[in-house]
Amino acid sequence: MKRVYNFSAGPSMLPEAVLKRAAAEMLNVNGTGQSAMEMSHRSANFLPIIENAEANLRKLMNISDEYAVLFLQGGAWTQFSMVPINLAGVEAGAERKNAAYIDTGIWAAKMGGEAAKYVNMRCAASSKAQGYTFIPAAPPPNSDDAFYAICYNNTIMGSAWQSPPETGAVPLVADISSCILSAPLDVSRFGLLFAGAQKNLGPAGCTIVIIKKELAGKAPSWTPEMLRYDTHIKEKSLFNTPPCYCIYVIGLVLEWLLEQGGVAEMRKRNIEKAAMLYDYIDNSPFYIAPVQKESRSLMNVRFAVREDDGEKRGQLEKRFIAEAENEGLVNLAGHRLAGGLRASIYNAMPLDGVKTLINFMDKFRR
Ligand SMILES: Cc1ncc(COP(=O)(O)O)c(C=O)c1O
Repeated sequence: MKRVYNFSAGPSMLPEAVLKRAAAEMLNVNGTGQSAMEMSHRSANFLPIIENAEANLRKLMNISDEYAVLFLQGGAWTQFSMVPINLAGVEAGAERKNAAYIDTGIWAAKMGGEAAKYVNMRCAASSKAQGYTFIPAAPPPNSDDAFYAICYNNTIMGSAWQSPPETGAVPLVADISSCILSAPLDVSRFGLLFAGAQKNLGPAGCTIVIIKKELAGKAPSWTPEMLRYDTHIKEKSLFNTPPCYCIYVIGLVLEWLLEQGGVAEMRKRNIEKAAMLYDYIDNSPFYIAPVQKESRSLMNVRFAVREDDGEKRGQLEKRFIAEAENEGLVNLAGHRLAGGLRASIYNAMPLDGVKTLINFMDKFRR
């Protein structure tokens, strides 16, 4: 069967060259006579795999030695608790610390809600009342905030920060699950960044954490060992068995990115793809993109059929999704909490995929 264009928000498309290389190396990676999923994580066979992946991520994102890079498990979800516990957790009975977040969508709200189990979490601004159609202005943090959290790219709502907010001495924490390596990002502006692998990096099962080393080591004594950043920093992500095969594929994706010209080139390609799709939607009498232009995501393009009658719109969108699937354009339904349609066009989505989608959209309109 012909490969489809997969517009899923995640897990999502991987570069075809990476999949072919992983297939070719399945039985024998780096001349070891084994696959990357069979080797001991502490062996001389696996260590270069994780070390190269870290070195290439540092190169691509220009990450200084002030920061540790970790390959963890538990998805981005686990970071929603690791961040508050490690950066602001207190011993049992002690007064809770304060922290803040900006509510730009479902994932930001989930991060804020989870953190509120451990700290006094203040929502400093929100665009919820306006259907999360823009990134609100970020008020400055309070001086006693232990951290200030944002979701840089809102996968479900289709919006994105265009630059990080200014937080002075308060560490800025960002969930970059759906935009990591899609464009240059100044890591030095952040205290901590985290991203699940399954969108721009590789298969599901690994979470990348980039943490300023000075922020680790303050977790309270009740913190489970697996949830301590200092434990994973000390053990170089090998405290327990890491997701070895996933890290291997991430390594292949990072090599592919370097070959393509790095994140500057990705930004160029991503702007070209997203601009083409948004332009088509904005100029069409049939479709609408609800997110305000200055807040739009390059990765997750949220759109809908322009129709006031909700029932009729729902029927048309259902037909759109089914007919698109018949043409090899899959996973175009919006998230169940946002409705409508969504095309996730991560780094691995070729320009041709976006052109094919636009051709289909125009045919469907007609
Ligand atoms: C921005 C964002 N944060 C967090 C998550 C949750 O990630 P995980 O399923 O890896 O826990 C997602 C998943 O789609 C996401 O898009």
